[in-house]
Amino acid sequence: MIHISPSLLAADTAHLATAVCAAEAGGADSLHVDVMDGRYVANYAFSPKTLTDLRRVTKLPLHAHLEVSNPDDVLSLFATAEMIIVQEDTTPDLAATIATVRRLGCQVGVAVNRSRSVEALAPVLPQVDLLLVMAVEPGFGGQPFDASVLDKVRWLHARRCACGLRFAIGVDGGVNLTTIAQCVVAGADFFAVGSAAFVGDITASVKALREAAMAAIASEG
Ligand code: DX5
Ligand code: ZN
Repeated sequence: MIHISPSLLAADTAHLATAVCAAEAGGADSLHVDVMDGRYVANYAFSPKTLTDLRRVTKLPLHAHLEVSNPDDVLSLFATAEMIIVQEDTTPDLAATIATVRRLGCQVGVAVNRSRSVEALAPVLPQVDLLLVMAVEPGFGGQPFDASVLDKVRWLHARRCACGLRFAIGVDGGVNLTTIAQCVVAGADFFAVGSAAFVGDITASVKALREAAMAAIASEG
């Protein structure tokens, strides 16, 4: 199963509902909503109100990706999301943060930056729904894909198989028609896609991403 989660950071926010509906028509599985506080990253992005407003225009699950310096202080504001994704390096007690997200009734995603160890996250893998490997520095869309993160994807895939775990293996940043195939071959099955989704004919772009991922699976035999 391939999960495509268009990242609204790349959408035209003056026409957000139109972009969301086009992505939904293209077969998006969820919507990725980046939350940025100008501290953890040098940028600002969506708020809890965005999630509430999006509820009125789409039935797609909403994933709040918290790229903020104090996620523990604001988790409850994002409880309307189906999934809350936290950056693993932003919380002093990741297991406690994961437990709080569960208590709020949300699925749990944990994101790991390029410079950080994924092996160190082994203890929490049984507790998460998604392990999201960042292939760019968080903060901005449109950055080039760092192929060195594919080693993290391979490690996660091996670990998931070895331990019989069920979490999705995701990649966020620089995912496009070419890099999505590399990620799939390495073992990823979940993709947050900004600039390669919200470009041109959005419906066609989202469809093409899934087709590229499925073609990579087929070529693996
Ligand atoms: C970056 C965000 C990403 C971003 C990806 O901090 O977490 O979700 O939207 O954008 P692209 O796909 O353009 O790299
Ligand atoms: Zn993101």
